[in-house]
Amino acid sequence: MSEQYGDFQLEIYHAGVQGVLPRYPVDFASLERKAAEVLPEWILSYVAGGCGDEHTQRANVEAFRKWGLMPRMFNGSYQRDLSIELFGMRLPTPVFTSPIGVIGICAQDFHGDLHVARAGARTGVPVIQSTLSTDPVEDLGPALGDTPGFFQLYTPKDRDLAISFIQRAERAGYKALVVTLDTWITGWRPRDLNRANFPQLRGYCLANYFTDDHFLKKLPKSPEEDLTAAAAEWARGFARSLTWDDLSWIREATSLPVVVKGISHPDDARKAIDLGVDGIYCSNHGGRQANGGIPALDVLPELVEAADGVPVLFDSGVRSGTDVVKALALGATAVGIGRPYAYALAVGGEDGVVHFLRSVLAEADLLMAIDGYPTIADLRAGGLRRVD
Ligand code: FNR
Repeated sequence: MSEQYGDFQLEIYHAGVQGVLPRYPVDFASLERKAAEVLPEWILSYVAGGCGDEHTQRANVEAFRKWGLMPRMFNGSYQRDLSIELFGMRLPTPVFTSPIGVIGICAQDFHGDLHVARAGARTGVPVIQSTLSTDPVEDLGPALGDTPGFFQLYTPKDRDLAISFIQRAERAGYKALVVTLDTWITGWRPRDLNRANFPQLRGYCLANYFTDDHFLKKLPKSPEEDLTAAAAEWARGFARSLTWDDLSWIREATSLPVVVKGISHPDDARKAIDLGVDGIYCSNHGGRQANGGIPALDVLPELVEAADGVPVLFDSGVRSGTDVVKALALGATAVGIGRPYAYALAVGGEDGVVHFLRSVLAEADLLMAIDGYPTIADLRAGGLRRVD
């Protein structure tokens, strides 16, 4: 029998017998508490905060509690298969890390993007790399090793810069382009507003811009000479509000599969697919952008139906392996971990991210084992019940 993700718990228990405790927590709540102890307040509040009174952010998490997995017995689930097929690749895990534009500064040495890429290389968990990073894609792509990475684009107003980012990511080895639709302007975030805190405006996480000729030629002085002016230029051109017409030039700019992130309405999913996108990414940005109140999980089943076989990536509110299993059962092709891996990075660097990703996968695997669902297809065929 080959190794299973759930075997991670044996590793932990056996180490305990030798007197060695795990270095990091395996659960989100403990991790969140520890991260609050180690992260500087301005980074913690930026990561933890959301839009308005943060109702959507909480609703995303609570939505998972309204579903329960129905245990099935007598089907010998010794061997589980959590692998998935995505964009012609066979991936060992159905989990990926969602793009987090300030992940770079969540690490003590401000190279968080690099640590996460290396954690992806070690775990086989694909990484979606944000446009906003403290290291450029040319350094981050190779750090992924054999694990595929996807590049997330905040589409700049300047089309040449957008195309340059897309092509740089493709050259750096990224395997898909994820275009985020819901963040051409920042949502109303009281925690950040009350402390007038916006890290990029202080010049953080702009490495891809500061290494791009299309961007640099707009600056009278280099970012090293005048960081404030460089950051202000970034803010002026950060993102365009895309229309359906934009999909054609984005498609033409790359041979990579294109995924659109931030889709909630089934009509938007259908139209995007008609216009040739290769994947739909169901997400409400973890409630950071609009405080509209509909949990991402609640729109997932309709989106899966509308996508009609086209892959649907999902995030927003995933905190555990149990949540991963529920999102898979509702039809997600792959499930994104967001805030939790930022906390894992803050607490334990690269090792902390590896530990948390392994914990999520172990929990998901053991749940599937115990409840009698050896494959994701079995889960989808009726594993969930509404429990409210
Ligand atoms: C994000 N998210 C995000 N999304 C994106 O497409 N590009 C980005 O640069 C960022 N940056 C970012 C920063 C921070 C601090 C957070 C918390 C989130 C959204 C992210 O990809 C994902 O959709 C959410 O994190 C999912 O919500 P939860 O599960 O983290 O609550």
